[in-house]
Amino acid sequence: MIYKGLVERYKAYLPVTDKTPVITLYEGNTPLLRAKNLEKHLKTDFKIFLKCEGFNPTGSFKDRGMTMAISKAVEEGSDTVICASTGNTSASAAAYSARAGIKCIVLIPEGSIALGKLSQAMMHNAKVIAVRGNFDEALTIVREISQKYPITLVNSVNPYRIEGQKTASFEIIDFLGYVPDYHFIPVGNAGNITAYWKGYKEYIQSPISNLKSLAPADAARRVNSSLPKMMGFQAKGSAPIVNGKPVKHPKTLATAIKIGNPASWKQAEAARDESGGVIDCVTDTEIVNAYKLLASLEGVFVEPASAASLAGMIKYKQSGKLTNTKNKTAVFTLTGHGLKDPDRAIKSIKKPVVVAAEFKKVLKIIGC
Ligand code: F0G
Repeated sequence: MIYKGLVERYKAYLPVTDKTPVITLYEGNTPLLRAKNLEKHLKTDFKIFLKCEGFNPTGSFKDRGMTMAISKAVEEGSDTVICASTGNTSASAAAYSARAGIKCIVLIPEGSIALGKLSQAMMHNAKVIAVRGNFDEALTIVREISQKYPITLVNSVNPYRIEGQKTASFEIIDFLGYVPDYHFIPVGNAGNITAYWKGYKEYIQSPISNLKSLAPADAARRVNSSLPKMMGFQAKGSAPIVNGKPVKHPKTLATAIKIGNPASWKQAEAARDESGGVIDCVTDTEIVNAYKLLASLEGVFVEPASAASLAGMIKYKQSGKLTNTKNKTAVFTLTGHGLKDPDRAIKSIKKPVVVAAEFKKVLKIIGC
């Protein structure tokens, strides 16, 4: 069957009807790649799977939520949407709005979003407003505007965003045929960890999911014992949930998760507590290290924030906090594509060697 996007595939689990005008770029259905080189390099017993969300149409997981949020906005008669963003939400909102033929306004923290993302929002013709402040301040403003004017908010506080994003858990279960033991994920505004946890809980109880090992009658019984542990990681300079209080001036080179007061804070804590997982943080150095490993060992180029999930696992393994991993499956959400932020990539690696355009000089560099 030809794939037509996640709303079509999972409509039985989504708040849509036959009348919903589905705005889609055929998002979802992203690869879940086994990462054997990483397993070997890290000397881990985990079976590592990478959920490559950078393969979505605008290059990040946001498209899952945006197909739902924009479809529902159109269904409800809205002609303008608004969001605050560290970049990916704005790129996605702008693209889906263009496709829907509605207006899109985005507020971004000035100087703090990767150029690839800014270029997307601009090319898709959104009204881009750079505020002299951070993401949290921009979110406060758009929330107020959406309350006072007939403009639909499409940040992840919009419940349709979470509905769309939960389908990533469905795909993981459908692909593996079982529920993973651990799920590692970056945490910023905390919508995605909320969505994955909701998705796992819902799908495991579903009689029509692709769970081979689970008879529907057993599903409820196994909800607590076989759901994955949700392992969320913030960047150390932007780790409000870990610190237990908002961070006024968040800092990290992983600009996508440079957030000091996550909107879905409570839901993220619930995912952590119900699953027996953690929300912890990793340093920028640990993030860059994992970022380079993914690209060099697995051919998967992600943006820095995405690598927080792997950085977290490496940190936990090194500190001896991950035991009994034999035959256990760990899924890592790699949230966005590396091409979103090429500046960071170039800053993180050795520059190319420059030589004269001469056969012998090139050979010498190659070492032949
Ligand atoms: N990774 C990437 C690449 C992101 O863009 C984001 C969030 C996250 C992780 C964190 O996900 O917020 O659901 O916890 N980006 C938002 C944006 C905030 O505006 O694009 P979260």
